[in-house]
Amino acid sequence: MSLLIKNGKIYQNGALARKNIFIKNHKIDKITSQDLKAEKTIDAKNKIVIPGLIDSHVHFREPGATHKEDFLTGSMAAAAGGITTVLDMPNTNPATTNLQRLEEKRRLAKKSIVNYGFHFGSTNDNMPEIEKAKNVASVKVYMDFTTGDLKLDKLDVLKKIFTSNKTISVHGENENILEAIELIQHAHNHLYLCHVSSKEELHYAKRHKIKNARTKSGTNSVGRVFVETCPHYLFLTAKDINKLGSFAEMKPGLKTKQDQKALWQGLYNGRIDTIATDHAPHTKEEKMQENYPYGVPGCETMLPLLLNAMNEKKITLKKIVQLCCENPAEIFRIKNKGRIKEGYDADLAIIDLNLEKEVKNDELLTKCKWSPFDGWKLKGWPAMTIVNGNIVFDNGKVNNIKAKEVAYDE
Ligand code: NCD
Ligand code: ZN
Ligand code: ZN
Ligand code: ZN
Repeated sequence: MSLLIKNGKIYQNGALARKNIFIKNHKIDKITSQDLKAEKTIDAKNKIVIPGLIDSHVHFREPGATHKEDFLTGSMAAAAGGITTVLDMPNTNPATTNLQRLEEKRRLAKKSIVNYGFHFGSTNDNMPEIEKAKNVASVKVYMDFTTGDLKLDKLDVLKKIFTSNKTISVHGENENILEAIELIQHAHNHLYLCHVSSKEELHYAKRHKIKNARTKSGTNSVGRVFVETCPHYLFLTAKDINKLGSFAEMKPGLKTKQDQKALWQGLYNGRIDTIATDHAPHTKEEKMQENYPYGVPGCETMLPLLLNAMNEKKITLKKIVQLCCENPAEIFRIKNKGRIKEGYDADLAIIDLNLEKEVKNDELLTKCKWSPFDGWKLKGWPAMTIVNGNIVFDNGKVNNIKAKEVAYDE
């Protein structure tokens, strides 16, 4: 199938240009001013075409908790939010901590309508399995308690696990971030700090260069500590818990206005590398129990929240694309994604900066059917999402076309 996206403004190399995108064999074949003939043409007049978002941190709950979410519903939510690739976390039930379970997850993920990859989990004794696991985004280490009971605390185990992959993703809160940085310095790999939520954590994470890290270009280059934050920390504070209760409770928890300010500064000054959703759905019933689980969904609202902020002149499109498309692709070395470029995969979000819409729980595609942003009126929404050259989301309508697992550069 060939597809032509015409009359839109295309985001390329930091600027917008009025060009057409010709898609063939699931790839961006040509970015051109010509009006090429395609089997299908999309009129993107008054819209902007950006690379599809890469959400490096989602919990799609398969296997084990498909009453909360599954790869189909999670990926539908992602598609509705302009996300074309997700990296799924290993704290499922059972957890993704051995090869057989990784293969099982691969089988389950075939339902997904956005592209996907996997973070591999770590336990006290799964080093041999980590070594066998191929084509994973990172090895995930839980240094604090959260959903899934994967917390590691033995120093000798941590030391070993930190040497087990080029990229180690960490759930760490407060001082555990310092410990993670210490461990990665000795392991000579890259560290990806998940869901950084406070001024203090951001301060702990400030630019570290790791000598002799294993990078793309060999063993003698310099590694990095990468920082992720999430939309809920940028748009909510602990005050919102008064109104939302457990529906605004996640790990790490919401912080103060000052923390939020520090995170926004981190977006501007480059201290923060990615924004990811930490899409962590739980049912309304579960959230209303006394011992409620932590986590909030986010795939459908991340891009609209950021585009609304852009309309309010709080962030630029360039920053959004850097943090949500280019940087995740680079950090996790995802092949042929993150940019609008000839030869790259045709993963695109067509956005309408003028569309105003309210977030409504009952219109959400996530299986949990709620959002902490319910009732927020946002200006700037994805109009269409294209995955591997297929239109999977079209102005509210979802097309169930299956996507693929991503590949990584060496
Ligand atoms: C996540 C979940 O529910 O899986 N919950 C959360 O509050 N963030 C786990 C996690 O990312 O820590
Ligand atoms: Zn976490
Ligand atoms: Zn040391
Ligand atoms: Zn998470």
